Amino acid sequence: MSSTTTRESSRAITASDAAARLMDRCKVLALCTEKPGEILRTFLSPAMDEVHQTMRPWMEDAGLRVSVDEAGNLRGARAAHHSPTAPRLLIGSHLDTVPNAGAYDGVLGVLMGLALVEESADRQYPFAMEVIGFSDEEGTRFGAPFLGSRAMVGELNGDLLQCVDSNRISVAEALHNFAATRPEADAPALSPQTAGYIEFHIEQGPVLESRNLPLGIVEDLVGQSRCSIEFHGTAGHAGTNPMKLRKDALAGAAAWMTEVEILTKRVDDAVATVGQIAAEPGGVNVIPGIARCSLDVRHRDDTVRTALVRAIFDAAQSIAEKRGLRVNTAQYHEQPAVRLNANLVAMAERAASLSGHPAIRMSSGAGHDAMVMAAHVPSAMIFLRNPGGISHHPDENVAEDDVAAAIQLGLQFLAQFAAQVKEKDHA
Ligand code: HGY
Ligand code: MN
Ligand code: MN
Repeated sequence: MSSTTTRESSRAITASDAAARLMDRCKVLALCTEKPGEILRTFLSPAMDEVHQTMRPWMEDAGLRVSVDEAGNLRGARAAHHSPTAPRLLIGSHLDTVPNAGAYDGVLGVLMGLALVEESADRQYPFAMEVIGFSDEEGTRFGAPFLGSRAMVGELNGDLLQCVDSNRISVAEALHNFAATRPEADAPALSPQTAGYIEFHIEQGPVLESRNLPLGIVEDLVGQSRCSIEFHGTAGHAGTNPMKLRKDALAGAAAWMTEVEILTKRVDDAVATVGQIAAEPGGVNVIPGIARCSLDVRHRDDTVRTALVRAIFDAAQSIAEKRGLRVNTAQYHEQPAVRLNANLVAMAERAASLSGHPAIRMSSGAGHDAMVMAAHVPSAMIFLRNPGGISHHPDENVAEDDVAAAIQLGLQFLAQFAAQVKEKDHA
């Protein structure tokens, strides 16, 4: 482990030193995994606990009061020097990952919060700061995403609590079991003084690289639907059943997947992905009786997205009818498209220019916790260039110089946020 990741006193250092320390820390946290040889961290897992234990000394050294709430969100708060009821700015992202993940998706944004606290240790802002590491944004364990941020804003309820993982444990049970081991944990609530949320994140796409820019200011995030589609046919012997008499669920699903691509390509800027498919009973010499598929549909216009989901569901029904199958379609998660806070977006844009890193405004095709937070707190997002646009993959990367640029933008943002708080105080 390099010297920068040891418990160095959190004196303010130059942005490039801070960037080097942040990159080191991403590499250290990448070792916290449920699956040796790849990066995998899921909701309330021991690997997430390992991340919390690793980050705690870094955060305490930076003067943060560290806690983990009942939904597994890691939180580090620094009060304003002059008042316990000062406005509070949240800076964070998520600490969980997709399977076989890269080292920066989510983690970078949490460590950016810590870096900005460290880099502003000598400044007396008129606002409190809170670094947040959300416990689940990807939805890897339960399928439904944003569990940590939804818990924080009071939206983790209803059907979401009934989603089950591969061991048939529900979200509600997982939360109950987790809280039982942490009697000291606070409820995952937002502080009433919360006045803003800012999230730094790798772009996870090619736009900034194609424009040769280090940073982007996110204006809006496209809406998304997550659905399950189950084809039911008749399992049978692979050797004795003539093709024309079969009710092959997986063959039906395959025909449907081709239709998903055809239907989606007809809609400008729409994307649809079947990321998971499972055939049951799964024998090499058994005709599949059941085929279970996931479906992820996204578009910046919610009306277009819901119409496309409808058309894809209708295609499943008509293919099932033609093939003598049954099909169940369900949308279990919907996140409408979100526009971020105009004031904070403009503030981020000014901060980019003042820091010498002019940035473009852009839309996010990826979902982020900022989508959930934006309905409750003025929110902004800053994208960092993602070399190769590769993400949700071990080759995911970010340039240290771009991290330094983001730190410089962040410090300018904090200065502007402070000026705005002071202005309001004297209004
Ligand atoms: O799926 C997404 O867009 C995000 O990476 N969770
Ligand atoms: Mn992700
Ligand atoms: Mn992410």
